[in-house]
Amino acid sequence: MRNIHDIANSLTLAEKASLCSGGTFWDTTAIPSKGVPSIMMTDGPHGLRKQAGGADHLGLNDAVQATCFPTAAAIACSWDPELMRRIGAAIGEECQAENVGVILGPGANIKRSPLCGRNFEYFSEDPYLTGQMAAAHIAGVQSQGIGASLKHFAVNNQETRRMTINAEVDERTLREIYLAGFETAVKASKPWTVMCAYNQVNGEFCAQNKRLLTSILRDEWGFDGVVVSDWFATRERDDCLKAGLDLEMPTSVGVGAAKIIEQVNNGSLSINMLDKAVERILTIVFKAVDAHKQNAAYDKDAHHALACETASESIVLLKNDNNILPINNSASVAVVGAFAKSPRYQGAGSSRINASRVSIPYDEIINAASGANVTYCEGYSLDGKGDAAQMISEAVSAAKSAHVCIIFAGLPDSDDSEGKDREHVRLPDDQNALIDAVITAQPRTIVVLMNGSAVELPWADKSAGILEAYLAGQASGKAIADILFGAVNPSGKLAETFPVKLNDTPCYLNFPGDASRVEYREGIFVGYRYYDTAGIKPRFPFGFGLSYTMFEYSDITLSANEILDTDSLTVSVKVKNIGSVAGKEIVQLYVNDAESSVLRPCKELKGFVKLTLQPGETGKATFILNKRSFAFYDKALKDWRVETGLFNILIGASSEDIRLSAPVQVNTTTSVKKCFTLDSTLYDIRNEPAAAPLLQSLFSSAQGETMLGMDADAVMLSIKVRSLAALSMTPISERSVTIEQLAAMVEEMNK
Ligand code: BGC
Repeated sequence: MRNIHDIANSLTLAEKASLCSGGTFWDTTAIPSKGVPSIMMTDGPHGLRKQAGGADHLGLNDAVQATCFPTAAAIACSWDPELMRRIGAAIGEECQAENVGVILGPGANIKRSPLCGRNFEYFSEDPYLTGQMAAAHIAGVQSQGIGASLKHFAVNNQETRRMTINAEVDERTLREIYLAGFETAVKASKPWTVMCAYNQVNGEFCAQNKRLLTSILRDEWGFDGVVVSDWFATRERDDCLKAGLDLEMPTSVGVGAAKIIEQVNNGSLSINMLDKAVERILTIVFKAVDAHKQNAAYDKDAHHALACETASESIVLLKNDNNILPINNSASVAVVGAFAKSPRYQGAGSSRINASRVSIPYDEIINAASGANVTYCEGYSLDGKGDAAQMISEAVSAAKSAHVCIIFAGLPDSDDSEGKDREHVRLPDDQNALIDAVITAQPRTIVVLMNGSAVELPWADKSAGILEAYLAGQASGKAIADILFGAVNPSGKLAETFPVKLNDTPCYLNFPGDASRVEYREGIFVGYRYYDTAGIKPRFPFGFGLSYTMFEYSDITLSANEILDTDSLTVSVKVKNIGSVAGKEIVQLYVNDAESSVLRPCKELKGFVKLTLQPGETGKATFILNKRSFAFYDKALKDWRVETGLFNILIGASSEDIRLSAPVQVNTTTSVKKCFTLDSTLYDIRNEPAAAPLLQSLFSSAQGETMLGMDADAVMLSIKVRSLAALSMTPISERSVTIEQLAAMVEEMNK
């Protein structure tokens, strides 16, 4: 049995230091004389990108072929962690076949703004959904003896100045929105590695942010794996190591190691700290080596089929007026749009996969339309060449002469890209013009969208059908055709809000910040938490998606009407398929805090269940809630806290479409230390039993009167306790009170 501790002990200082940086661009350092091999760590997240020849960060050398699964933005719309786990396992198998030890993903950053260029690599605007999907991804990958790397930790929500920007975020927002998904994934699935982000959080680079990398990640959440830098994110190697960053990637050709050696030798860096990092690195290196399966291979067809199944579960039907979909396969079809033949199915950057094959929507439509007449027009050009007006007019006449028209539209590749944010959320102007002209001429038009993040859809009200395919991987062409022609009933629901316009988005005025910092002024009001609470109607809400059937919700049942916050609460509802085809429904549970002393969003997602139901079948969705389902992060307490009071359990088909609700009284078990002072206001102390006798005896007759036309109650409530001494000498008071008596009252209240 190998003893990691003994191996670490056998290493010289120089060897230990060398192990803490990559040996090459993608490999850890090997120390053959001591029997320490290297492992390969490479991208991720929605498939394997292993560069075949010499490594270069720009990806100029082609990667080996791999299955390009749907991107995180797409898979999240399946709301199916089990499917995500299967994808993770399939990616793990491909890593085994390619002898990769750690795959760099999943990304659990929150979609703060639809402008973020890397949104396609992230799951959602909601931390609960993000956490469930990230945990499942990790569990799947690691089930194959391959390590996952949860990234980019943390608060990495934009590409503009991604290497340097300082994200300024308050503690409650940090915990409730930006860390919660990471927390779930770390606690539930124990990733082998966590990758620190490039940016700064509240004035400290993530790579040397001890609070994030050690206090929160290790001490609070119990992470015992390796913290790896994002590529080139390391700063001074010793400072990073002290903060909790074990492994610098890629190689720094000796610079990092030299710094560590120097600092250990001069006593500034403890050898213990270095030893801990070394042992953690050795642990995952040997874990990967031991789990490696010689001559592993995977079934390419099966993985392509899994990519197709996932895409079918993820595509979201946004509009279906007059049941324009599914298309009757004897109808003549005009296919319009260059993406029908050159589909977008992944984004640009380090996640780009050399797909083993790609299913082409146009070809799949021809198959699905089984003999019906299918025509094609380019509609717009992908390279900026060609006469836009001419292409539009050809498309209009093709659409008019067919029974139904399908337009493929979406964002250009460069708009879903690592390293660059979008400046607006519009589709290209020529595509909007095309769609507008075609849907005016042919009302039976369906628009299929291929994009990595939310877009404005100015023509949405006029179009009969909209299918959001996101960037759904190499098999998306087949999945789209299956849905268009009814072989598959769509069941995806949006994992992010589609705003009417960019100006409606919560951080519109604070994204991407200035030359050095970005203030997260919208706080916890991200995504639907903002739209809902501020009453801003989005184009399509979070959690929304249609089906070819309909579902009826009934019988909400709670296991108790009153609980302690340490109890769990079981909620169940019945859902019936009342249409004529089989379908899947994603049932969502939101919690509303009806009586809160702190500002809270009007609802927060705390559970979801995906049911498969035959026509006429009734299923049951069951949810188990716990303390975190009701809690907010209390900065003063440095912990999660539930306030005693009434909560509403909301069951919805989307965040906007709440079908059932039931109240529950939750009683807190946390006693919060009171800290009233003489400067507390009468409003602050109004419900304090220890204050009641004095307050009543002072002002019984002032109740309800007006003062200079003001509301007397409101005026009185704003007064500080200490002012009562002077006020009690005036005619409005029934008796006098001294400052000493007030101080005694404050002391009594604080007991
Ligand atoms: C990206 C990471 C990626 C790494 C290695 C970085 O630029 O931010 O997500 O895993 O490169 O390619």
